[in-house]
Amino acid sequence: MKKVGLVGWRGMVGSVLMERMLAEDDFSVIDATFFSTSQAGQAAPSYSGKASVLQDANDINALADMDIIISCQGGDYTKSVFPGLREAGWKGYWIDAASALRMQEDSVIVLDPVNRSVIDTALENGVTNFVGGNCTVSLMLMALGGLFEQDLIEWISPMTYQAASGAGAQNMRELIAQMGSIHGSVDELLASPSSAILEIDKRVADQMRGEAFPTDNFGAALAGSLIPWIDSQLESGQSREEWKAEVETNKILGRSASPIPIDGICVRIGAMRCHSQALTIKMKKDVPVADINNILAEANDWVKVIPNERDVTIRELSPAVVNGTLSVPVGRIRKLTMGPEYISAFTVGDQLLWGAAEPLRRMLRILL
Ligand code: HSE
Repeated sequence: MKKVGLVGWRGMVGSVLMERMLAEDDFSVIDATFFSTSQAGQAAPSYSGKASVLQDANDINALADMDIIISCQGGDYTKSVFPGLREAGWKGYWIDAASALRMQEDSVIVLDPVNRSVIDTALENGVTNFVGGNCTVSLMLMALGGLFEQDLIEWISPMTYQAASGAGAQNMRELIAQMGSIHGSVDELLASPSSAILEIDKRVADQMRGEAFPTDNFGAALAGSLIPWIDSQLESGQSREEWKAEVETNKILGRSASPIPIDGICVRIGAMRCHSQALTIKMKKDVPVADINNILAEANDWVKVIPNERDVTIRELSPAVVNGTLSVPVGRIRKLTMGPEYISAFTVGDQLLWGAAEPLRRMLRILL
């Protein structure tokens, strides 16, 4: 059995990864070693069914004993440990959730339902660094994989509706704290059916703008509001999250030399862990909507085409429904009035599953 080192398994992405590895019985086909940056020597979790102790995640010799390492520890850890590990001559496979190595020439971004052929070619060529993609990018590709596969897309403009989880566990807590703070400011008025809605609205607005409103993590109100900027600011005027859409999509597809333009605005909204995206797609030719629906539906086992009808759309194309599942619904597919090559689509996906943990454990399975 391959020796697999797990680093950062206790954080949010790492915990989702552990849940999925348990659900798919991955521990029965690997020899797992758990690493920790702070608790080496303490008891390791018993996922693998055998008692052991945590190894030091900064010990290059211990890491170098592994055939495969999966890290959900974050980019700073990757930057501090990975170069030294390679310099020490380690030839194993490094699978990483962080973005630190994503755009390096010698790494492949993994999303095997979409780019299995790119992964297979990389393995044949001796590539050993495999990195999970940006969550928004991976979820868009899971939804639109069929159109990319058939090279039907001229360009895409995604407008995103991104969940609190993408910013971290503390941000999810803060979103709920903001919701509670808002409710707490008007709960007495809400209890009385005769209270004036404009009075409620004014109190809510005052609460959201007040000093006591919890904004340490987001820096602004998210509950009852939104934040139209995600990640850092680039010279181009794009946010870093917006920049990733085009560069990562084309890298995943192995077509960075002839990239498909993809650009839009990324927005944080008050969803818990599902990212949504409204997509304007310019097709290379006029394809009937029924054919588009078939192409999308057949691309992988997780995409689910939702008919462009009101009732089923509000029932199924929703972060509240998709949360915690691997399903990637895509709907609102119709021709736009700009012309027959312009279509709209709306998709929802769990950013901790297909957006983070799932491609990593599937890459592990490919290596076994
Ligand atoms: N950058 C994403 C977000 C999550 O902030 O929502 C990680 O890919």
